[in-house]
Amino acid sequence: MLTLLLPFLLLLAAISAATPWSLRPGFYSETCPGAESAVREVVKKAMIREPRNAASVMRLQFHDCFVNGCDGSLLLDDTPNMVGEKLSLSNINSLRSFEVIDEAKEALEKMCPQTVSCADIVIMAARDAVALSGGPYWKVKLGRKDSLTASQEDSDNIMPSPRANASFLINLFQRFNLSKKDLVALSGSHSIGKARCFSLVHRLYNQSGSGQPDPAIEPGFRQKLTKLCPRDGDQNVTGDLDATPTWFDNQYFKDLVLGRGFLNSDQTLHTSAATREWVLKFSEDEDGFFDAFVEGMLKLGDLQSGRPGEIRRNCRVVNDPSVNPVVCF
Ligand code: HEM
Ligand SMILES: *[C@@H]1O[C@H](CO)[C@@H](O)[C@H](O)[C@H]1NC(C)=O
Ligand SMILES: *[C@@H]1O[C@H](CO)[C@@H](O)[C@H](O)[C@H]1NC(C)=O
Ligand SMILES: *[C@@H]1O[C@H](CO)[C@@H](O)[C@H](O)[C@H]1NC(C)=O
Ligand SMILES: *[C@@H]1O[C@H](CO)[C@@H](O)[C@H](O)[C@H]1NC(C)=O
Repeated sequence: MLTLLLPFLLLLAAISAATPWSLRPGFYSETCPGAESAVREVVKKAMIREPRNAASVMRLQFHDCFVNGCDGSLLLDDTPNMVGEKLSLSNINSLRSFEVIDEAKEALEKMCPQTVSCADIVIMAARDAVALSGGPYWKVKLGRKDSLTASQEDSDNIMPSPRANASFLINLFQRFNLSKKDLVALSGSHSIGKARCFSLVHRLYNQSGSGQPDPAIEPGFRQKLTKLCPRDGDQNVTGDLDATPTWFDNQYFKDLVLGRGFLNSDQTLHTSAATREWVLKFSEDEDGFFDAFVEGMLKLGDLQSGRPGEIRRNCRVVNDPSVNPVVCF
């Protein structure tokens, strides 16, 4: 009997290895019932240490999920045979608060060893960061596996530049089945956090190679920005992404309507007729923004690559380093 079944079982195993695992709320309610509250406590403490940790942790979900699905690949440190995502253009000298994820992982490994994936920790922490900043709370779907590899090149090919315009962003998000509404709502994550002058100076001094500033910037705001980011100043200096950078609210959209968006990718959502209606709606309807944001974060969290995965013991390294370069390019 077993010999008859064996090929069938092997086939099943092969299929399930290549099929995205199904995600559901309460995935750890039996195996690690304290997981969600443990993550929330770590995020809460991190925000007390430094309020910006909320924004920096939340951003990790976007950068993880867009590149080969939400698989914790973003968290992997480079190895001699793997240049990971941390060095990509959008991430280097920019992504931060990895230690918050490490802290949550350490707590969970003590509670329930090798049970909760790093990919799921990112998803839980992002949700908690938003909720603890005054934004909406939602039930996250869990059950992800951690990837065995990461690729700087994939991140460079996918992650959008702050110079991107609305039509580029609409097309990019469409590739992930994310609508214009999703794009605008998810960009509302810039309601919290900061960005570097590096991400802004082209707008102030040479928009689209014109040698001129972006005309969409409100003049008073532009004066403030040029003072913060002089032409040959320190590109690591940071500015607030909206007027209330530690509070998750719809101020970001009110700012866009007034020409006070920080990044070109922000302001373009109001300049472009294709997305403006959503900017206007969310600027007047915070509950509508929150609902759309939650919907967008759930869709973002559903992105999966179908590649093999594991539950990492340490979010920065794969369990067996010798399997690192399994994916060929
Ligand atoms: C629509 C396309 C997007 C572009 C072009 C973009 C670009 C950027 C850039 C350039 C920065 C500042 C980086 C720096 O100067 O070091 C930033 C910060 C941030 N982004 Fe985005 N982003 C986008 C969408 C998103 C999404 C979908 C999320 C989350 C769901 C997100 C969350 C954040 C957060 C929270 C920060 C602040 C991080 C901190 O303070 O450490 N962004 N983004
Ligand atoms: C910005 O900071 C990073 C380290 O965080 C450093 O490597 C880089 O050289 C700095 N860039 C500038 C222009 O100061
Ligand atoms: C938007 O950006 C894309 C690619 O960067 C460019 O080809 C296109 O002309 C731009 N569209 C507008 C309306 O500026
Ligand atoms: C987008 O939706 C189509 C049709 O439902 C599906 O085949 C495709 O895999 C989806 N793409 C992503 C990135 O989820
Ligand atoms: C502005 O950008 C254009 C095109 O990228 C470039 O050729 C030009 O040298 C830049 N001007 C300045 C002042 O940086």
